[in-house]
Amino acid sequence: MKPSLSDIVQQQIKSPSPIRQIMKMADRKNIINMGLDPDDVISFGGGWVNHEAPERLREIYREIIDDPELFHKSGGYSATPGDMETREALAEMERHLFNMDIGAENIIVGQGSTQLTHDIFKTIANPGDGIVLLDPTYANYEGQLIYTIGKDAGGRIEARIYRLRVMDTESWEFMPDVSDAIERLKALFSEKRPKILLFPAPDNPTSQIPPEKFAKAALDITQDYGAYLILDFAYKTQVFGKEPSYFSWSPRDHENLISILSNSKWGRGLGRRLGWLEASEDVIAGMERTQQVSILCPDTLHQMATTRYIKEAIKDGSLKRYVEEVKEEYKKAAEITIKAIDDHLGMRRLVPKGGLYTVMDVGMDGDDFVKDVLKNTGVLFIPGKGFGESLKNAVRISYGPLVNNTDKIVEGMERVGRYLRG
Ligand SMILES: Cc1ncc(COP(=O)(O)O)c(C=O)c1O
Repeated sequence: MKPSLSDIVQQQIKSPSPIRQIMKMADRKNIINMGLDPDDVISFGGGWVNHEAPERLREIYREIIDDPELFHKSGGYSATPGDMETREALAEMERHLFNMDIGAENIIVGQGSTQLTHDIFKTIANPGDGIVLLDPTYANYEGQLIYTIGKDAGGRIEARIYRLRVMDTESWEFMPDVSDAIERLKALFSEKRPKILLFPAPDNPTSQIPPEKFAKAALDITQDYGAYLILDFAYKTQVFGKEPSYFSWSPRDHENLISILSNSKWGRGLGRRLGWLEASEDVIAGMERTQQVSILCPDTLHQMATTRYIKEAIKDGSLKRYVEEVKEEYKKAAEITIKAIDDHLGMRRLVPKGGLYTVMDVGMDGDDFVKDVLKNTGVLFIPGKGFGESLKNAVRISYGPLVNNTDKIVEGMERVGRYLRG
């Protein structure tokens, strides 16, 4: 008898993320099948950064590898919540960059935001507990929630997810009326009693930053209902302008606050998997127990290199310089993207306040638009629907991968504009 995969996996395989499906459609073989030249494709699809990691970090990796003793050490397990020295260095980095009052005891190191998000759901919620997500929001949360706190709902495993609409598709604005968003959030908590509210800042896919007033209300409401507020700070260092004060909030002052951070974006360590979570000591202890069964310990080599780099770069002032320079590069790429959209497409779009993306109103089903544009121009966008219903007639445009090649941004928009004008 043929063994079968788990119920949840069988269900999830049948409903893959729409973003993955489009990325598959744009793989080399498919592009050739469409009669296009893969080297000529311009992709606004990738949710990743393309600036250089700090050169000093690369040297540190080499120094560790070149030293037999250090290399041997990097092959050993670290403590489950991460090396104490790494946790201290990360706390120092938060104090240095964001003036945050935080210590090592409030930090657990993991393998990037994705693993930490999965594990925090397991740690703070039970199957069937409710969660509030924004609409739109980062597309991976839904699957992560089904896997961790999903529950059988009449033959289908579902997570109890409530969406708070933050995109006004009439006016094409992000949270145009903050008081109204807060009232709707209050009503959701009062009626549904969710355990968690989670949002990214800056956000993927909109690159908007939920305003200060909203974050303060979110903290108060979650506190009142004994719920957790999780801030996904994957793009924390990539704000074009002054950060709102909640970027400095500490779990020392707010016991229901959880922040998730990562090396992926700021230091271009997407593949060198390392991230961390900041929370009360209770939550950190819970996460330690969860990590014992999920990853046992975070990567030792990356912890050693990151720790040494952060300490040095804070001392000689190069960390702030690096972060500022990188931010400037993305700000410029964002400006070029918006100008190219305005010049060649004239469609409604959001001006990024940070991060790597914008979203654009295409006035028709986003899936159909993306397929048609790809076939006819070799330019790839991501359909908006995977991020929430509010973006079903929209696409996400990522300038992250093209940050060093901004001419391609302009060329891509020119091509699409020419095609759409017939
Ligand atoms: C909002 C958000 N959170 C988390 C992640 C995943 O980051 P990591 O590489 O740290 O797992 C991404 C990746 O694009 C993201 O956009």
